[in-house]
Amino acid sequence: MTEHSGAGKLLVRDVAQLATPSAAVTPARGKALVEVEVVERAFVLCEDGRIVASGPMSRLGALEDEVEEVDGSGLCAIPGLVDCHTHPCFLGDRVEEFALRVGGASYEELHAAGGGILSTVRETRAGDESDLRAAVERHGGWMLRAGTTTFEGKSGYGLDRETELASLRAVSAAGGVPTWLGAHAVPPEFENPDEYLEFALTQVLPEAASLAEAADVFVEVGAFRVDQARRYLTACRDAGLALRLHGDQFNELGSVELAIELGARSIDHLEATGEVGVGALAESDVVGVLLPASALFLDRPMPPARALVDAGAAVALATDFNPGSAFCESLPFVCGLASTQLHLSPSEALTACTINAAYVLGRAECKGRIAPGFDADLVLLDAPDWRHLAYHLGGDLVATVIQAGRVAWTR
Ligand code: NIG
Ligand code: FE
Repeated sequence: MTEHSGAGKLLVRDVAQLATPSAAVTPARGKALVEVEVVERAFVLCEDGRIVASGPMSRLGALEDEVEEVDGSGLCAIPGLVDCHTHPCFLGDRVEEFALRVGGASYEELHAAGGGILSTVRETRAGDESDLRAAVERHGGWMLRAGTTTFEGKSGYGLDRETELASLRAVSAAGGVPTWLGAHAVPPEFENPDEYLEFALTQVLPEAASLAEAADVFVEVGAFRVDQARRYLTACRDAGLALRLHGDQFNELGSVELAIELGARSIDHLEATGEVGVGALAESDVVGVLLPASALFLDRPMPPARALVDAGAAVALATDFNPGSAFCESLPFVCGLASTQLHLSPSEALTACTINAAYVLGRAECKGRIAPGFDADLVLLDAPDWRHLAYHLGGDLVATVIQAGRVAWTR
C-alpha cells in the first residue's frame, strides 16, 4: 500500500511542535509507551514518499532542488495515525437498530434475533464488488480526514465465498490492509458454527490466504467458541496468515489464553478481561488492542487499560469502525477517550495508535514515526501543543494530512 514513486520533495516547515513516539523497541510497553520526542519549531523533509530529515528549523540546511513547501506555522506535526482494527467493507447502515438500542434493546439481543451483524451481511451480499470498493473508499476517506493514513480493513459481512473474497479485494483496492474475518458470525444457510467453519476453511481460506495479511475470529457467546476459534486460526496460520482475535468483548471465555497459545499478533476488545487475563497478556508478546469507542457506543464497561499498561502489556488503540458497535472513524476522538476513560496519558495514546498499531499490522519498520527512512505520513494538527490530540475531544483538529510525501487532504 505504500507508493513511493514520483512524490518528489516536500518540506513541512515552521511547525510549532513536532511530536513522535521514540521508544527503541516496538511494540512499546510499560514506561516506553510514554516516550515521545517533542521538537519545538521544527521541519520535516520528505523525498520520494519517505522522510529524509527532521528536526529544529535551525538545523534545516539550504535546499538545492525544487521543493514543495507546506507552512506549518501554528500547527503541530504528529505521525500519520494507524488504525489497526476497522470493519469498513459493508453496505447499508444500522441506524434503525441504533434507535432500538437507545430505547433499551441490547446489542446481544439484536444479534440473537438475527439482526446485528447478520442484517449487515444481508445488505452487503446484495451489492457487487464495485459497490464494496466504493464503500471502503468512502469510509477510508472519512478516516483520512480524521488523520488516519494507514487502516486495516476486515471482511466479515459477506460470509459466503464470493462476498468475502470481493471484500478483501475491495479493502486492498481502497488502500487498506486486508484481514479475513471469515469467522465473524454463522450465516443463516448453515446449521451450526462447525458446519460453517468446514465450508470457510475448505472453500474460502485457500484464496483468502493470498488476498489477506491476517485472519480474525469473533470469540463470543452466539458467535464462535474457543475450540472452534482454535480450529479456524490454526488453519489460517498454516496458510500463512497472521492471527488476530475479537476476544473478551462481553464474556471472558479463554481467548487471551488462546491468543498466547497460537502466537497471535493481537487480541482486540478486552472489555471483560479480568486480573488473570491482564497478567497473562503482560507476560506475552500479544498486543492488546483497546477499542474505547466501541465500549462507549454500546454503553459497556471500558477495557482495563491502565492495569494492562501498568502490568507491562503492549497495547494499541483503534476505532473498531463498523455499522453496529462503533460507527466512529476518528482516532483523535479515540485518543480523547483513551485519556478521559482509559486513563492513558496523551503520550501513551499517541504511541498506541502509531508505532504499536503499526506493529500489529506488521509495519513497525515503516509506519508510525517521524524519523528518517519511515514513510512520509504526517498529520498537522490545528493546535499549539500536540497533546490537543487527546485534549480537544471530538474537536476539529486535523488541518492537513500528508500521505507518502503528498498532501492527501487539507481543510
Ligand atoms: O468488533 N464484535 C464483533 N464485531 C464487531 C461488530 C460488528 C457489527 O456489529 O457489525 C466489533 O465490535
Ligand atoms: Fe471489531
